[in-house]
Amino acid sequence: MSKPFVYVTRALPAVCELRLREALPEARIEVNREPRPLAPDELLRCAGGADAVVCTLVDRIDRSFFEALAPGLRVLATFAVGYENIDLDAARDHGVRVSHTPGVLTEATAEIALALLLDCARRISECDRITRRGEFGTWQPEGRLGRALFGKTVGIVGAGRIGHRVAATLRHGFDCTILANSRTPRPEWERELGARFVSLDALLEASDFVSLHCPLLPETRHLIDAAALSRMPTHACLVNTARGAIVDETALVQALERGEIAAAGLDVYEHEPELAPGLDRLENAVLLPHIGSATQETRDAMARVCAEAVIAVLAGGAPKHALT
Ligand code: DGY
Repeated sequence: MSKPFVYVTRALPAVCELRLREALPEARIEVNREPRPLAPDELLRCAGGADAVVCTLVDRIDRSFFEALAPGLRVLATFAVGYENIDLDAARDHGVRVSHTPGVLTEATAEIALALLLDCARRISECDRITRRGEFGTWQPEGRLGRALFGKTVGIVGAGRIGHRVAATLRHGFDCTILANSRTPRPEWERELGARFVSLDALLEASDFVSLHCPLLPETRHLIDAAALSRMPTHACLVNTARGAIVDETALVQALERGEIAAAGLDVYEHEPELAPGLDRLENAVLLPHIGSATQETRDAMARVCAEAVIAVLAGGAPKHALT
């Protein structure tokens, strides 16, 4: 067999390449070291002839990718848990194994969701800006009041690992009441967290805080649209650490401008890195640059999962976290 060729579309934590070189000493391993994603035609050029590709969530992996790399390509490992950028049907049609990185980014992403919930509740980023502008003034008995997160009702949309970690922390650490909505009811949520599974409308109407943790699918695109936002109480806060397109951002900007909801905390956007017009001017929006999984520990673990997936498939096995 000729030497395998592994192409990595961005420089990942070093452990990925180290592990690949250790397990596949014969392999040709090439990495795009430029600090930007490759355009689709560059990607096809650079990855041409690859047996394995490690990609990221900003690479568009559509049918033409699989057509161009077939029949040599055997595995595509994405450095993400979300995989809406990959045409899985096309991968199956071309017999390519696709793997992702669930599990290792649960805690990191839950931390960012909790940080955004607290920031929205207690106006942390807004107060940071006030302080930096020299507007601290004096201690205010009734100024800069936020709302407590402690003891509130939190609606969790999507009952996967990250949603569960957020719900468990809020239940056990903040005494919150948990409402949940997902396609698959989870009896263990009810047992462990006293969570109630309700319709999305009921969740939106009854929650003081709503945190989104569902995948982006055709049926969850713009799940939170103007009608959904209008169901939320005016004191409610919305947090999105899942995928931007789950929220209709134009409707969200309007709802925040008009005070139809109190605040939003976003780590993800529909057209990253672009923001919906007006979003960056809103004091009641907390905006992060998609850092849910951005801890050294988590990114190292994600890199390791990708390397192991490539190694497993090139050895004739299956990846641990297979999507196809
Ligand atoms: C993912 O993995 O899908 C996150 O959004 C990025 O780490």
